[in-house]
Amino acid sequence: MDGRAKSLRLCYHFLFELSTSLFRPAKRSMKMLAIRNIGQLILVPRGPIGGKAMGDVDRLERAAMLIDGETISWFGEESELVVPGDCETLDAGGNCVIPGLIDCHTHTVFAGSREREFVQRIEGRSYEEIARSGGGIRITVEAVRSATCEELVELALPRLRRMLENGVTTVELKSGYGLTVADEFKMLEAVKRLNTRQPIELVATYLAAHTVPREFDGRGDAYLDVVLDEKVLARVRDEGLAEFCDVFCETTAFDIEQSRRVLLACNEFGLTPKLHADQITQIGATVLAGEVGAISADHLETIDDAGISAMREAGCIAVLLPGCSYFLGVSQAPARKIIEANLPVAIATDYNPGSSMVESLPLVMNIAATQMRMTPCESLIGVTANAAAALNRQGRIGAMAVGMQADLAILDVPTIERMVYEPGRNCVRTVLKKGRVAF
Ligand code: NIG
Ligand code: FE
Repeated sequence: MDGRAKSLRLCYHFLFELSTSLFRPAKRSMKMLAIRNIGQLILVPRGPIGGKAMGDVDRLERAAMLIDGETISWFGEESELVVPGDCETLDAGGNCVIPGLIDCHTHTVFAGSREREFVQRIEGRSYEEIARSGGGIRITVEAVRSATCEELVELALPRLRRMLENGVTTVELKSGYGLTVADEFKMLEAVKRLNTRQPIELVATYLAAHTVPREFDGRGDAYLDVVLDEKVLARVRDEGLAEFCDVFCETTAFDIEQSRRVLLACNEFGLTPKLHADQITQIGATVLAGEVGAISADHLETIDDAGISAMREAGCIAVLLPGCSYFLGVSQAPARKIIEANLPVAIATDYNPGSSMVESLPLVMNIAATQMRMTPCESLIGVTANAAAALNRQGRIGAMAVGMQADLAILDVPTIERMVYEPGRNCVRTVLKKGRVAF
């Protein structure tokens, strides 16, 4: 990526952070909060964290913490806690406290259901076959096109509520089920509305290049002319509708040349590149991720050595989606190999109606453990520090450090291992967003 695009990107993120900080309530209006009786405080460092360090995180036992307004202002041994006057307290019950979880890859805004395909796959058809015969993403596109923005909002609200209850405090959401300019804007507008109606911080990604819509069958480039039009991208930028851009780089969607075009065009308008890369077929998508300086390349089930090197050189985060392979019943990404190659690994749900109807990030942590051999500590780094880095927020969230935003999950179990060990039961007792109890 050239210098101009990089500085545009930086400038865009600066303005975005500035605009969100302007809307934060004044700190003075909030009392201090002390969290006492923490059995184990996991001291997650700031991301990105690569390789061995992912599995080696300090923990503080019998700990306490002070929160000043929206920010962590102190933590340490409970015996050293000095409670300031006029301070509220919260008892953690001797349990484990972790940073709020960050789901850095989802398609949470959608309409309709694809349970028919789910059954077809059980009967032996593949995700790819279903997509080639006109099913898959295009089915959800029809449902999203028929829905109003407000209907999309109403459908997403309970999903986000359940995510919050599972300890999630930040979620990335992609467009990509509209596939006309108006319907893509409708999806991004839905994310904007959702951001004001519930406590989770939402991060929007422009994924108009999700697949070629039916009306452009065989004319992918002509479709891209429409959704990459300068006026369209300028509006995404000017209305602050998305921070990131994404493309499904795959034989059933966009090839390498088209994907490069998408990412470079969007980057000119301040959108930071991400890719759906190396999921089903190996066509060099992760090498492209390195070439364009993508902040993350996501999926990576078929990543090769060239892709690993390219990503490492570019400082690209490897976002793995264990719930997707689990849901499709196919091979997982080679997590151990990627961690051993020293890449920072994040994990996310990829929550969507086709390939991962899995909205629980704690469940995905369990799948990462049992199917990818990632330790609970590694997967915690994957859904906190490294997920924050995949969203360019590592300076504010995803770590347990003084000065970080007080997004926290208080568990009802004493260790993070216990949480990952118990899939299917919600082990989250209390969630704090910006220092306030949100659940
Ligand atoms: O990340 N791979 C492309 N996109 C989604 C699936 C979307 C869908 O099937 O609706 C994914 O798996
Ligand atoms: Fe996805």
